[in-house]
Amino acid sequence: MKVLAVLLAGLTAVTAQSIEIGAPAPGTQFTPGQSTVVMVETPDFLSSSVEVSVAIGIVFCPSGNCPSPSGTLGTLLFSGTYRPQRSESDPFLPPHENYTVTIPANLAQGPASIGVAHFALLADEVQPFLETKSVPVVIQ
Ligand SMILES: *[C@@H]1O[C@H](CO)[C@@H](O)[C@H](O)[C@H]1NC(C)=O
Repeated sequence: MKVLAVLLAGLTAVTAQSIEIGAPAPGTQFTPGQSTVVMVETPDFLSSSVEVSVAIGIVFCPSGNCPSPSGTLGTLLFSGTYRPQRSESDPFLPPHENYTVTIPANLAQGPASIGVAHFALLADEVQPFLETKSVPVVIQ
């Protein structure tokens, strides 16, 4: 019983630390070479956790079936530190960081997916935590 409680507590911590992609919205259309902001949010930020980094990529999916971001991020658009902050101008936004990235100029038209890999260290155990999220977009 005690073991289960510990396991559940661990699961809660993992869920609570998950990121969300606040921008771009699903289905956003881009032209090759355009720059855009990818907003990475941590809605339930745990102050005991240590944020480390994110990697952001874009993958072209001609058949409409995008590969999982845990398998490939495609073309790397950014990799580096993740330091979520609250916005003073928009206090209702969760802690987040905005990354300005450039859609590759050589990307073909059609469905694509922007993927984010997120690495953090959880709570007092300093447990390594890696997750991936993605959002479907369209190259026109
Ligand atoms: C991030 O971008 C959003 C949308 O453009 C904006 O509302 C927010 O203030 C920005 N956050 C920071 C910390 O600049």
